[in-house]
Amino acid sequence: MSSTGDAPVPPPQPSLQPNALSPNGASTNGLPSSVFTLPQTAQLEALYTIIRDKDTSRGDFLFYSDRIIRLLVEEGLNHLPVVQKSVITPTGSTYDGVGFEGKICGVSILRAGEAMEAGLREVCRSVRIGKILIQRDEETMQPKLFYSKFPQDIAKRYVLLLDPMLATGGSAIKAVDVLMENGVPEDRIIFINLISSPEGLKTFSGKFPRLKVITGWIDQGLNEKAYIIPGLGDFGEPVSRVA
Ligand code: URA
Repeated sequence: MSSTGDAPVPPPQPSLQPNALSPNGASTNGLPSSVFTLPQTAQLEALYTIIRDKDTSRGDFLFYSDRIIRLLVEEGLNHLPVVQKSVITPTGSTYDGVGFEGKICGVSILRAGEAMEAGLREVCRSVRIGKILIQRDEETMQPKLFYSKFPQDIAKRYVLLLDPMLATGGSAIKAVDVLMENGVPEDRIIFINLISSPEGLKTFSGKFPRLKVITGWIDQGLNEKAYIIPGLGDFGEPVSRVA
């Protein structure tokens, strides 16, 4: 992505409305206005039905979750600012359009977030990708940073933060804390996930109201083991799935 130096024009209107109603009747009203869901179409629900099915093969799980990830990344890009840009078409005419402003990078929260990297690369060619590993500290029981590697100029980039499941929000909050400690402003981070719990969304967006969350689906809640219900089990370890 290149910066033209022209005056920024308002970003394109996101194709989504925040706080949409999910088709299974679960109301998402009352969620923060920074939260956006994908249009809850029958097509999208069919994709989710496949990846939620415990009998779906690993290959199909990867293929169909990748399709959802691409939709999420495209939607995330809708929230980036653009600048005016004119080009000459092969007919010799001028087309007054827009181009992306600034540079982006992805940051995946290890390990499950790595599964979203391919989908991001399919949509954004040559995108830089950082990584962050957060695990629970066995003494304090709090999320702790174990490893991070970011593009050296990350503070100047828009960051697409990748983690497939937003459960309690603990890891995502810690990841954003680390990004902000590395100079990335809150409003330059877009958090992309496939499934959110309402509890996680409220906690996360309450802490970072200026950070946009793009989620594919908002589920019912969390069970006693902090798994999302109905969810899809452990996204990072679909080993229980048939080959
Ligand atoms: N992470 C997962 O992979 N699944 C959940 O349900 C919650 C967190």
